[in-house]
Amino acid sequence: MSISKTEFARRRRNLMALMEPNSIAIIPSAPEQLRSRDTEYPYRQDSDFYYLSGFTEPQAVLVLAPGRRHGQYVIFCRERDPATELWHGYRAGPEGACADHAADDAFPIGDIDDILPGLIEGRERVYYSMGRSAAFDRQIMSWVNSIRSKESTGAVPPGEFTDLNHFVHELRLVKSAAEQRLLRQAGELTARGHKRAMGHCAPGRYEYQLEAELLHEFASSGARHAAYPSIVGSGPNACTLHYVENSRAMRDGELVLVDAGCELEYYAADVTRTFPVNGRFSREQRALYEIVLQAQAAAIAAIRPGNNWNQPHDASVEVITRGLVELGLLKGRVDRLIKREAYREFYMHRVGHWLGLDVHDVGDYRVAGSWRQLEPGMVMTVEPGIYVSPHNSKVARKWRGIGIRIEDDVLVTGDGCEVLTASAPSSVEEIEAYMAATG
Ligand code: GLY
Ligand code: MN
Ligand code: MN
Repeated sequence: MSISKTEFARRRRNLMALMEPNSIAIIPSAPEQLRSRDTEYPYRQDSDFYYLSGFTEPQAVLVLAPGRRHGQYVIFCRERDPATELWHGYRAGPEGACADHAADDAFPIGDIDDILPGLIEGRERVYYSMGRSAAFDRQIMSWVNSIRSKESTGAVPPGEFTDLNHFVHELRLVKSAAEQRLLRQAGELTARGHKRAMGHCAPGRYEYQLEAELLHEFASSGARHAAYPSIVGSGPNACTLHYVENSRAMRDGELVLVDAGCELEYYAADVTRTFPVNGRFSREQRALYEIVLQAQAAAIAAIRPGNNWNQPHDASVEVITRGLVELGLLKGRVDRLIKREAYREFYMHRVGHWLGLDVHDVGDYRVAGSWRQLEPGMVMTVEPGIYVSPHNSKVARKWRGIGIRIEDDVLVTGDGCEVLTASAPSSVEEIEAYMAATG
C-alpha cells in the first residue's frame, strides 16, 4: 500500500478538524453492481470512502465521531465467514478493521440499524453525502427517525444535516507527496501504454487492437483497470468525443485518436495522443496538429501558483482561434471570434479538469464567484483539441473528418508545473520518428 496508514489517519484528522463541534460524519462504501445475471462488475470502492480509510471492501460504512469515548473512528463491515470466504475471498471483519485499518471500534454491518442511532444520538449535526444515493439518504433518515421515536425518553435527535462532499473534496483537491508519486507513476505507466499502441498501429488493424495493447501494458505493470473506458477513434470517429465502440478498421492516411489512462492504486491517469495510422502526418493533419500542440504548450505555460483555473483555457482558445483563422477555417478578427466563441464549432470542451482518485476529480473550479487560484499540489489535465466534423460544409473538404486532441496530466509545483505524462511522444517529429523506428 503506497498511501501509508499515517496518511489515511491524517486525512481523517483533517476532515474532523473541519467539522463543527458535537457532530458526526457517515460515509457509505460504493454499492456492488450487477453486470449480467449473477455476474458483477469488478468492485471499485467509492473514492471518498477510500480516501478516508484505505478500506476496499463493499458493504461497509465509516463513521467519524470526534470525541467519542470508545473511539472516534468506527467501521461497520461484513463479518468473517469461512464458508463464504472459501468462494469469494478474504474479508477483514470487524477484527481486521481494527487491527489492520486503524479503526478504534468496529461492528458487523448487519448490526448497523441497532448501533448507529446510538452513535448519532446527542450529536447536533450529521455530515453525509446528500443525494448521491437515494437508498443511503433513506437509511440516514431511518436512523434519525429511530432516535426521534424515542424523544419522550430523553433521546436527542440531530437538528442539522450538512453535505459532506464539499469538505472531503476540498481536502482531495490538493495532493500530498505520496499522492503525487502515485499520479506520476500512473502517468508514466500510461505513457508507456500509449507508446506501445503507437508501435502497434498500422493500416488495416482494428481500433480495439490498439486498446488491447494499452490494456496489456497497464495490467502487466500492476494497474489492472483503466481509469475510464478507452477511446480509440480513427478517421471521423475522432470527432465523436466519447467514442468507445473501438470497432473500426483503421485506414491508411487517417489519424487515430487514443484517449486512455490506467488506474494505479486508485489514482487515475488521463492521456490522449493522436497520430497517423501509417506513421506520417499529411499536410492538413500536420497543420491542425501543430495548432493543438501550440495551444497545449500555451496552456501549460499558464499553469503556476497564483494564476487562476481559467487562464490555461483562455490561452488555448487564443492559440486555436488564431490558428484556425490562419488556415482559413474561421474568418474574421481573432478578438471578435473569441468573444462570440466561434472556436466552439471546432473546440467545444474545456482545456481540462482536476485529476486524482477520480478521472474527473473533485474540487470546486470557482470560489466565491471567481475562478479558483492554482496552488501547489493540484493536478489537472491539459487537453485542447480541434475536431472538424465530417459534415462541416463550411470548410474546404480537405479538413473534414480530422479530429485531434493532445492530453497530458500536469501537477502544479511551487513555481510552475510538472508534466507527469511527457514521456509519450507528442511532437510531429517525435511521433514520426517513434513510429518509423517501431513500425
Ligand atoms: N478521458 C476523459 C477526458 O479526457 O476527460
Ligand atoms: Mn482523456
Ligand atoms: Mn481528460
